[in-house]
Amino acid sequence: MLFASQISSFHKDGYLVVEDFLNNNQRELLMNRAKDLIEDFDPSRTQSIFTTNEQERASDEYFLKSGDQIRFFFEEKAIDSSGNFTVPKQQSINKIGHAQHALDPIYKKVINTLDIPEMGQQLGILKPRKLQSMHIFKQPNIGGEVGLHQDSTFLYTSPMSCIGFWIALEDANIENGCLQAMTGGHTIPLKKRFKLSNTGGTEFEILDETPWPDTQLDLLEVKAGTLVILHGQLPHYSAENTSNKSRQAFSIHLIDDNCHYAKDNWLQSDL
Ligand code: FE2
Repeated sequence: MLFASQISSFHKDGYLVVEDFLNNNQRELLMNRAKDLIEDFDPSRTQSIFTTNEQERASDEYFLKSGDQIRFFFEEKAIDSSGNFTVPKQQSINKIGHAQHALDPIYKKVINTLDIPEMGQQLGILKPRKLQSMHIFKQPNIGGEVGLHQDSTFLYTSPMSCIGFWIALEDANIENGCLQAMTGGHTIPLKKRFKLSNTGGTEFEILDETPWPDTQLDLLEVKAGTLVILHGQLPHYSAENTSNKSRQAFSIHLIDDNCHYAKDNWLQSDL
C-alpha cells in the first residue's frame, strides 16, 4: 500500500516510482510464463505487428479483438518486406495482450498478490476494474519506439479514470528504451480518443488540437522489479531499443467501473 507522501507525489507529478515492488521469483514467473506461451504460439496463424503507425494498427482485427484474449504481436522489424522472420521466434514478439490477468493461471496468481486494486483506490478509483494487461518485450536491437501518448486515449471512460501500473521485469535505462514522462503533464487535457468507427475499423476522435508543450521528458531509468504508476492523462514515451539488452515489462491498467465505458471503445471485454 502507498504512503500519503507517495499519493501526493503521484497527484503532483502524474506518476510514481515504487522500487522493489516485484521480487525475483515473481519476475521470473512472469518471464518464464511468457516464454512458454510464445513457445506454444504458432506464428503462421497471424502476422500482426504492433506498430506506432496508427493506420495499420487501426485496421487490424486480430488486435481489435484481443481485449478478452491472450494474443501475440510482433515487433515491426521482426518481419522483412517478404514476410520472413529476421530473428528467432522468442525475439520477435513486441507484446502479449490483453487479458492474461484474467485468463492465465500464472499471471493471475502473481497479479492477485500485488494489491493493485487497493492502490488504485488509494489514488481515487472507487470501483477498480482490471481492464487490460500487456507483457511488453522491447526486444534487443529491434524493440520499437512507442510515440508520445496518454493512456486514456486508448482506455477511455467518462469521466476519465484510467491508471497504468507498469512493472520493470528487467532493468530499464536510456540504452534499452526506458519510459520517459512529461512530469506534471497529466493536467494537460486529453488530446484524442481511439475508438471504433461507424464504418468499421477505428478512428481517432480529436479532443484538443493544442500541440504538446515544448517540455523535456524525464527519463525513468529503473531497476528490475520497480513499479511505475502512470496517470491516464500523463504524456509518456519510450524510444526504440538499439542495444543488445531486452527490456521486458508487464503492465496492467485499472479503470473505475463506476465510470461510463463506451460501446465504441476499441477494447471490449466482459472478463
Ligand atoms: Fe502508455
